[in-house]
Amino acid sequence: MLNFNFKNQTEILFGQGQLSEVPARLPANAKVLFLYGGGSIKNNGIYDQVMRTLADADVVEFQGVEPNPEYETLMKAVHTARDNQVNFILAVGGGSVIDGAKFIAAAVNFEGNPWDILVAGASFDNPLPVGAVLTLPATGSESNGNSVVTRKETAQKRAFSSESVQPVFAVLDPEFTFSLPPRQVSNGVVDAFVHVIEQYLTYPVNAPLQDRFAEGILQTLVTEGPKALATPEDYDVRANVMWSATMALNGLIGKGVPQDWATHMIGHELTALYNLDHAVTLAIVLPSLMYVQRDQKKAKILQLGERVFGITSGDDATRIDLTIKAVQDFFECMQIQTRLSDHNVEKAGIDDIVANLERNGMTALGEHGDIDLARAREILTLAA
Ligand code: NZQ
Ligand code: ZN
Repeated sequence: MLNFNFKNQTEILFGQGQLSEVPARLPANAKVLFLYGGGSIKNNGIYDQVMRTLADADVVEFQGVEPNPEYETLMKAVHTARDNQVNFILAVGGGSVIDGAKFIAAAVNFEGNPWDILVAGASFDNPLPVGAVLTLPATGSESNGNSVVTRKETAQKRAFSSESVQPVFAVLDPEFTFSLPPRQVSNGVVDAFVHVIEQYLTYPVNAPLQDRFAEGILQTLVTEGPKALATPEDYDVRANVMWSATMALNGLIGKGVPQDWATHMIGHELTALYNLDHAVTLAIVLPSLMYVQRDQKKAKILQLGERVFGITSGDDATRIDLTIKAVQDFFECMQIQTRLSDHNVEKAGIDDIVANLERNGMTALGEHGDIDLARAREILTLAA
C-alpha cells in the first residue's frame, strides 16, 4: 500500500427528514446564498422545504446553474454573493450546482481573474463555507473538494480541487431523488461506477481492503442501479445508490492505491466539444480504454471480472474480453449507449478531441502516464 493522509470534513446527514438539521449548522447571522439549478426543485417540493428550513436566515437566491456549470453563469453568482455580502452558500441540486457553489466560494474573495483558479492552479484566500443538499447521487461532489467548470466560448471543461471549499455538511435524503428522470438515474449510477473504476482498475499494490471497498461499491451499483430505474420510489434502493455514489468519491477508496482518471479526462473533452452528459462520455470511453490498456491492467481486470461479474472460466485473454463486455453490457442495461456514433459524434471529430486534449495538457494520462495523444486517439477510434 502507498503512503497517504486521509481526512474528510463533510458531515453526512443521511436519511429522511434530515434537512431539519441544517439551521443548527449555519453561521450566526447567516446570510445564505441559496444556489440551485434549472428549477427541478420547484417541481418536486424541495425548494419549499429548503425555504421553510431557512426561515430564520437572510436568504439570497440564485437560480440557473446549468448541467456542466458555466463559468459565465457562476461569475454572475459571484457578483450576487459579493453585492449581498453573503457568509454561506447552500447548494441544492446535483454535482453541477455543488461544483458551482465551490467555485463561487473560492472566487468571491479572489482579487485576480477567477478563471486562473481553474486553469493556472491559482491559490485563493478566505473561501466562503459551503453546505450541500444533494438531489442527484452521482459525482460525490457533496463530500469532496472537486469542482468542474465549463467555459463554452473556449470549449474548455476544467477543474480545481481544494479541501477549503469542500461542503461542511451534506444532506442525503433518498426521497429527494424520487423525482429524477430515468436519464439522470442512469447517469448517476454510471458516473459512480466509473469513479470506483478509476481508483481500482490500475495495478495491484497489495491493498486488499481498498479492493474490497471498491468491489463492494461496484457490486452494489450493479445490482441496485437497474432497480432504481425499474422501481423509482423504492426508498431502500435509492438509499443504497445514494450512499454508494458518495462513498465512490469521498476520498476513502483511493487512498494508498494508484489512480487512473484517463476516462474522465478524455470524457471531459467530449462534453466540452459535444455537450454530451458527463456519464455518457465515460460509458463511451471506458470499455475502449480497458481494451487498449488490457496488458497494463491485466491483473485488476481479471480480479474485477471474477469478483464483481463472476467471470471465472476461460484463459486470461477470454476473461478480459468477457469482463470488458460485462462492463459495456452494464452501461447498456442502464440505458446508456457506448459508441461515439450512438451519440452523433462522427469519426472526423476525433481530431478535435485529440487537439483539445493537447491544448489542455492531457498528454500523459493514466496510472502509468502512458496514454499519450496517439493512444487517446486509438481509444477514441475503437469507440467510434
Ligand atoms: O438543474 P436542475 O433543475 O437541478 O435539474 C438537474 C439537471 O437538469 C436534474 N436534477 C437533479 N436532481 C434532480 C433533477 N431532476 C429531477 N429531480 C431531481 N431530484 O438533473 C440534471 C443534471 O444535473 P447535474 O447536477 O448536471 O448532474 P450531475 O450530478 O451528474 O453533475 C454533473 C457535473 O458534475 C461534474 C461533471 O463533470 C458535471 O459537470 N463532476 C463533478 C465531480 C466532482 N465534483 O467530484 C466528479 C465527476 O466526475 C464529474 O466530473
Ligand atoms: Zn465522474
